[in-house]
Amino acid sequence: MTPPPSDNPPILEVRHLRKSFADRTVLADVDFDVPTGAVVSILGRSGTGKSVLLKCIIGLLETDGGHVLYKGESLKLPEVRSRLRQSSSYVFQQNALFDSATVFENVLLPLRARGKGTREEWEVKVRKVLARLELEESSERYPAELSGGMQKRLAVARALVTEPELVFFDEPTAGLDPLRRNAVFSMVCELQRERGFTAILVTHDVQEALVVSSRILWLDAGRVRFNGEAASFEASQEPELREFRDNIEALRATLQKSRSSHSPTL
Ligand SMILES: Nc1ncnc2c1ncn2[C@@H]1O[C@H](COP(=O)(O)OP(=O)(O)O)[C@@H](O)[C@H]1O
Ligand SMILES: [Mg+2]
Repeated sequence: MTPPPSDNPPILEVRHLRKSFADRTVLADVDFDVPTGAVVSILGRSGTGKSVLLKCIIGLLETDGGHVLYKGESLKLPEVRSRLRQSSSYVFQQNALFDSATVFENVLLPLRARGKGTREEWEVKVRKVLARLELEESSERYPAELSGGMQKRLAVARALVTEPELVFFDEPTAGLDPLRRNAVFSMVCELQRERGFTAILVTHDVQEALVVSSRILWLDAGRVRFNGEAASFEASQEPELREFRDNIEALRATLQKSRSSHSPTL
């Protein structure tokens, strides 16, 4: 993904976001910008609050303080929230597919929900995105009949069918073996380049993040502890950041080893 000029105007500005559950503070004071057209990766340990952060931004969770601006306007305003909802999509960590609907129907649903255009126009768009994600031959199957990699691709197809300008990916390759992970990840990268949407990518995979991101955020203990380019993230000698990088790499190596006995079919 080509990094855009860093002076692109921000599509999102996150300011002093706070969120606690009972007595556990998850987001203490989170602050960052997302430049239009950028790929911003959010890294952090499991349980740090990456998913909570995305949910707070899109309004699935209420925040305890702070605010988010979308194109300079506060998402506290219902009409601004509605504009964000119309022009963005979300790939959930657990896919959130509709089990009783076919692949085709799953992808059709967001178009129907938005209610713009005709059924014929929707079907053209669905067929096009299914072909792009190599799922056209599975269009009459149900999610439970698909492999993990295909389910992820379906979740991506459903997110992209509405041609969003902003896409939130919550660990789009988590739980996949290395082969499937690479296939899904390269498709996401190609699609981002083709369509030029702004992407916010939550991942625990440092290598993935370094390859694609215009900007890396490292979330730790409820704050953004690093916000900068991939190269300076890699070069940072800050002890805690180094420890995070090393632990993640060790975990990745162990996972790859334990999965190498499987021979996946995509
Ligand atoms: N709805 C909720 N109610 C209570 N605690 C929650 C809720 N959602 C998340 N949490 C807690 O917030 C913390 C951060 O969770 P999460 O954002 O899912 O982490 P991750 O960085 O792995 O995505 C965890 O301790 C989790 O248990
Ligand atoms: Mg998460």
